[in-house]
Amino acid sequence: MSKLIFRETKSSDLGFLDEIRGEELHKLHLDRFENQKKGFVKYLIVFNGKNPIGHVLITFKNFYSWHKFPAIEDLYVKKEERKKKFAKQIMGYAEFLVKTKGHNKICLDVETHEFWIRSFYESLGYEKISGVHDLKYFVERNGINEECVEKVNYFEKSL
Ligand SMILES: CC(C)(COP(=O)(O)OP(=O)(O)OC[C@H]1O[C@@H](n2cnc3c(N)ncnc32)[C@H](O)[C@@H]1OP(=O)(O)O)[C@@H](O)C(=O)NCCC(=O)NCCS
Repeated sequence: MSKLIFRETKSSDLGFLDEIRGEELHKLHLDRFENQKKGFVKYLIVFNGKNPIGHVLITFKNFYSWHKFPAIEDLYVKKEERKKKFAKQIMGYAEFLVKTKGHNKICLDVETHEFWIRSFYESLGYEKISGVHDLKYFVERNGINEECVEKVNYFEKSL
């Protein structure tokens, strides 16, 4: 199994993040860099050797009313790199990081229609606590700020 390399994102990573996402989402990433500077989040970029393959956003400030613990908010693996167990390794590292910061629980949301992603998190020990919540966020695409609303179920795991 390839050993992945994890580090905090920095402003010079925008190109790598575009490569991972396959599109330019600069406002999204820049907002996360700002929140990282304030200590609200850890926005990690993941490399397989020199190749950027994914990212994960861990929030330590609860941005949603139903979140009670540090949350995994955006786990993403580059399309061409999927189904190689990278997401599993990334989740393991994110949980380790949250635990080393003194937390004994972690949480996340899964869109209600994402059945296999739900099974994936359940296989890692996450349990559904409540649902359904309306998760609202903004994404800027081609200079236009789009409000997105997702119906999600809320999950927690003891670390
Ligand atoms: C979700 C995501 C991060 C998974 O990344 P990945 O590196 O391909 O996942 P892994 O290879 O670690 O696989 C994890 C498990 O999910 C299963 N899986 C992966 N892709 C799957 C698919 N398209 N359909 C069904 N199961 C799938 C794998 O078989 C594996 O299960 P197993 O351990 O029982 O074999 C990736 O698909 C992604 O970035 N999707 C877009 C963003 C997203 O939806 N993020 C989740 C937000 S809640």
